[in-house]
Order: sequence, then C-alpha cells, then structure tokens
Amino acid sequence: MSVHSDAGFDRPVTTAVFRARKAAHQRIVMITAYDTASARLVDEAGVDAVLVGDSLGMTVLGFDSTLPVTLEDMVRHTAAVVRGTRRALVIADMPFMSFQISPEDALRNAGRLMAEGGAGAVKLEGGASVAATVERITGAGIPVMGHVGLTPQSVHQLGGYKVQAKEAVSAAALLEDCRALQEAGAFAVVLECVPAELAGLASAELDIPTIGIGAGAGCDGEVQVYHDLLGLGGDFTPRHAKRYAQLGEAVVSAVSAYADDVRAGSFPAEAQSTHMAPRALEELQAMRAKKVRPATA
Ligand code: KIV
Repeated sequence: MSVHSDAGFDRPVTTAVFRARKAAHQRIVMITAYDTASARLVDEAGVDAVLVGDSLGMTVLGFDSTLPVTLEDMVRHTAAVVRGTRRALVIADMPFMSFQISPEDALRNAGRLMAEGGAGAVKLEGGASVAATVERITGAGIPVMGHVGLTPQSVHQLGGYKVQAKEAVSAAALLEDCRALQEAGAFAVVLECVPAELAGLASAELDIPTIGIGAGAGCDGEVQVYHDLLGLGGDFTPRHAKRYAQLGEAVVSAVSAYADDVRAGSFPAEAQSTHMAPRALEELQAMRAKKVRPATA
C-alpha cells in the first residue's frame, strides 16, 4: 500500500483520514464552497475537505458579517455542496445562535445539518466555553471541528476582524481552548488569524489536526475562502489569502462581450438557433392567413 493510500488519498475523506494525515505529516487541504458548481470544481481539484462556511453571508449573500446567516441558509447550501462533491469531506458551519443557546439546541441543529444537509461533520466557533456543547454533539455521533482565534461570529466582542492571541496570556488561553476542544471530542480545530508561533505550538501539542487560516505555515492543514483565492471578492484580498486566479475580471470581460454581441445582433447566431420544418412553417402561415386559431384543450 502506498503512503498516499494509507493516508486516504484514494477514497472518500472521513475524519479518520484527518487523523491519518496528521500522523503521516501530510497536510490537509480545505477550501470553502457554497453551491453545487463550485463544490464540483474544488472536489475535482482534489481538496480533502469542503467547508460550507458561514462566510456564505459575505461571499454569496451580500451581508457585511456572518451574523445574519440562518440555519435554513446553511442547510440549503450544505445540501447543494454535497450534491457537487464525490470525495471531499463536507463540513457545515453552525451559524450564529444555532449552538450558543444550549447543548440540546445545538445537537438538534447539528443533526439538521447532517440529516437534511448531508454534511459529514459540523464546525462551530469557540473554545472552552463551548466544550460541553461539543461533547454533547460528538456524543451523539456527529463529528465536530472546533474554531478558535478570530471567531467572526464574535466580531462585535472582538472589536473587529483582527489577529488574536498576540500576548502571552491570551496565547496561553488559546492553547487551553484547543485542549478543551480536543478533550470534548473535536476531530480538528481551525486556528484563524493567530501568530504563527502560537499555531505551531498548538499543532505540536495537540493530537488532533490544526487547520490554519492566517496562522502561518506550521498547522497540519490550511483552509481558505474560495472567493479570496479566485479573485471573486472584488478588490479586497485578506492578508492571509493569495489570489491564484482573477476570475472576477474574467467574468466581467466575458459578460461584457456577451452584452456587446446581444446589442450588436451577433448573438444568438445560427449555431445557437433551431428551425421549424418548412412544411410546419407553411402550415402556420396558411393558418395565419385564414385567421385559424388552434383548438384549446
Ligand atoms: O466561514 C468560514 O469560511 C470559516 C473559515 C474562514 C474558517 O469559518
């Protein structure tokens, strides 16, 4: 058996593959997607996991934060992503207020993302303060990914989207949060916008894989937002992202060419048209000449 098949490169990705990858020092690749078309593309590209992030609120729904995203939104978009995915593990984000009220409520909502959305796991934000919730959900057989550091659902408490845990005390607290999530049964944890040194320490200390975004190169895997990597998010690119393509520019230029063609009358052309048989056309013209109207059913 090759190293690749050992660590699950040739079969559907499960949380067991995450563990195997960490043990084999093979990095885990994760990206967001929000619909069937983008899920199909990223799955074909061979990513290990697709996160249906609540970043959906900004990237797709046009809000300026993740707070307005509802559980219904997440169920709908998760199901769309699952329909486009064959191999990658689909992880559904638990949106604002879907897990904060009580562990029972969180379990019910996680269950909907799995049963109705078809997700293979859920992700929720927070550290030690959500450990009981993580334990309740994982205890029911639902894999949970944690998320610490910059947790966008707490943007108002954090005072903006900024790097977290830069000082010794907050860094130590973040390591405690990671340990609490691991003990509660989380299978992996996202470290968002934290110093690289801290992410390296967390990755070395934890048995579960760390998935970084804005956390340096020392994590066990990386997650990025589809729109940021592909230039679909307008002019702004977050510091932690890199543009691998300028699809936004390509789309504007393609749609402008389409608009020019329609206005100039050069599209649709013969290649995009269908025709009536000459006999049917003659019959129609004869009917019109006699003012015959078709019989209605
Ligand atoms: O919602 C999201 O896209 C996320 C990632 C940035 C980790 O939570």
